This record gives sequence, structure tokens and C-alpha cells, in this order.
Amino acid sequence: MLMFQHDADGKLAMTIPRVFSENAQLKRMTWCFGFTNSLCHGEYEYKDPASEEDIVNITYVDKSGKRIPVQGKVGDNVMYLAHRYGIELEGACEASLACSTCHVYVHEDFCDRLQEPKEEEDDMLDMAPFLKENSRLGCQITLSKALEGIEVTLPQATRNFYVDGHVPQPH
Ligand code: FES
Repeated sequence: MLMFQHDADGKLAMTIPRVFSENAQLKRMTWCFGFTNSLCHGEYEYKDPASEEDIVNITYVDKSGKRIPVQGKVGDNVMYLAHRYGIELEGACEASLACSTCHVYVHEDFCDRLQEPKEEEDDMLDMAPFLKENSRLGCQITLSKALEGIEVTLPQATRNFYVDGHVPQPH
């Protein structure tokens, strides 16, 4: 349900009622609106690899320790790829470096193959619970052939869960 109205400058502006703003799909629509020739956030990850050379395998380890192998491709964002396969890796700010809900632990064999985190990523990680040496934000990791076989593990909780009142249970 989109609403259009003229702003103070007389330009047509689009708004989405607040009740719908929590819906991830509609959030994506807001990101996409006006960019008809580009993919929405996360849309690229729903495409299958075009060829064998494009394939990058990744294993997610969820909070229960279950290993979930996924066939990704060059250019996939680790967080959006997780969403495609129903893996509980949140992403409250849609990869805009304004949360730490996409926090993951990167297997030690792959830490040095990642680009150094931006200052904004470090700032967000500083606020993440259960921070470790190998902590990174999943939305800032893009798959490449150098990351073939990468493994990322989800932490027991992320900061948004605390905000929502969730108390993590020890395992
Ligand atoms: S989704 Fe918010 S920083 Fe990654």
C-alpha cells in the first residue's frame, strides 16, 4: 500500500505506512523504488550460478551447531544468501552498516582472505555481543573464488534480540 503526496517543493513523494515498514519485502521495495535497471538488495543472491566457474561453496553453522552447506556464486552477499536458504542470519538494517544483527564468526582459514573491515563495520562489531577475533558482519562479505569453501558460524545472539527482550539461553 503505497501513498503518494506532493512535498514542500511540489515534487511527488512516496511513503509507506509504518505498519508495513517491518515487512522485509516491502523494505526491499523502498530500496528499489526508482532504480528500475538495478537489482534490489538481496535479489542477486536469488539467482543461480551462471556457470561452474561462478560457483562458490559456503557452509553456514547455525546456533544449534547444524552445518548447512550452500552453493553460492561469485558476488553473493553472505547475509542475503543466507536469507535465500532460510538461515537465521538477521539483517535489520539491510546491509547499511547500522546494526550488528548479521554478525558471524569466519573460520580462521578464511579470515586473511577477506578485505579489512571498514571503520563503520568495526564500530558496529564493537557493539555486538559475543564478539571474537574472527567476528565480521555477514552483509559485508562478498563471495569470491578465493573464498571457496568458506565457513561462517552464527553467534548465540545478536544485539537486536536483546532489544526485543530476548534473553539468550546458555548451551
Ligand atoms: S545488516 Fe546491519 S550491518 Fe549488516
